[in-house]
Amino acid sequence: MMIPDLSTQYLGMKLKNPLVASAGPLTGELDSLRQLEDAGASAAVLPSLFEEQIEHDEIEIHKFFEFQAFPNAESLNNFPEMPDFDSYGPDDYLEKLRSAKEAVSIPVIGSLNGWSDGGWIRYAEEIEEAGADALELNVYFVPTDPTITAAGVEKQYVDLVAAVRQSISIPLAVKIGPNFSSLPNFAQRLADAGADGLVLFNRYLESDIDLETLEYHPDLVLSNRHEARTPIRWIGILRDQLDISLAATSGVQRADGIIKLLLAGADITMMASILLMKGPEFLGTLLEEVNQWLIEYECASVEQLKGSMSQGNYPNPSALKRANYMRALKNYTPQY
Ligand SMILES: Cc1cc2nc3c(=O)[nH]c(=O)nc-3n(C[C@H](O)[C@H](O)[C@H](O)COP(=O)(O)O)c2cc1C
Repeated sequence: MMIPDLSTQYLGMKLKNPLVASAGPLTGELDSLRQLEDAGASAAVLPSLFEEQIEHDEIEIHKFFEFQAFPNAESLNNFPEMPDFDSYGPDDYLEKLRSAKEAVSIPVIGSLNGWSDGGWIRYAEEIEEAGADALELNVYFVPTDPTITAAGVEKQYVDLVAAVRQSISIPLAVKIGPNFSSLPNFAQRLADAGADGLVLFNRYLESDIDLETLEYHPDLVLSNRHEARTPIRWIGILRDQLDISLAATSGVQRADGIIKLLLAGADITMMASILLMKGPEFLGTLLEEVNQWLIEYECASVEQLKGSMSQGNYPNPSALKRANYMRALKNYTPQY
């Protein structure tokens, strides 16, 4: 019987298969990280160190020194508290990263999450020094000011990527959302600025309104498998245009979804929600199903599968443009 070669290249690393644990609570705890490795995960992305965590830590240090200088300064009592970040600062993050590197032998990818061009960027270097095999830079910004242009937002992303690229020598992946007016142009500029890979796509958590308290509150809803269609489409479109790694995230929940993302051109597929629902061992079930699929379809390797249905390799490239959309709307029949 043919034994398919599941290995795949990602960010210049040879991974043993395309199933990677995405940033989230399971990769942040050593026990579940080990369970993910045992289940077959080929790499893991640690939860992010957030710009806000770094800045809060620096504000706290500043506050301490101000307090020493002006012990009676009343304004210090009114200093805003950020209890969420009190117990987990950048030093804890770096310590966790070092422990993760000791606990598992798969590549460990650090993650930095921010937007502004402040001092938090220097933590990219710290993450490299702590032993990360690569860095995932998660850039997330919500423009609410009408004077901010789309071009200005994109420039900020590109400048950030260039600044982080300059400060580290490990591979750099950039995690972005899907909402850009011309994603192929933007993606190319991120690659030109030094991204070795793109992680497509970040999944934004929208606030909901609590009708009892009349407050906005973040309501974390896990993904569903249909959400993989957005990365399937865009990875299919981008695969032949970009000479960098592409990772798929959002809605990766079943073996068929993983196969589809590989066909579109993903180098790896990342999972968070499904493993939070079913446990780290479920990654092993998916890995076995992917392996079985390759055997059944006589596909010798993941490398052979990758991108074989990208836009450029598909006989009808317009399928990824408007045509299918119009056909789907015209042919829809009511369900009742
Ligand atoms: C509870 C939770 C925590 C997460 N934390 C992070 C994080 O720290 N950094 C990050 O880049 N993504 C984070 N993510 C996003 C996931 O890594 C992933 O990209 C996203 O959930 C989409 O994949 P999924 O459909 O498999 O959940 C988190 C997701 C969840 C559900």
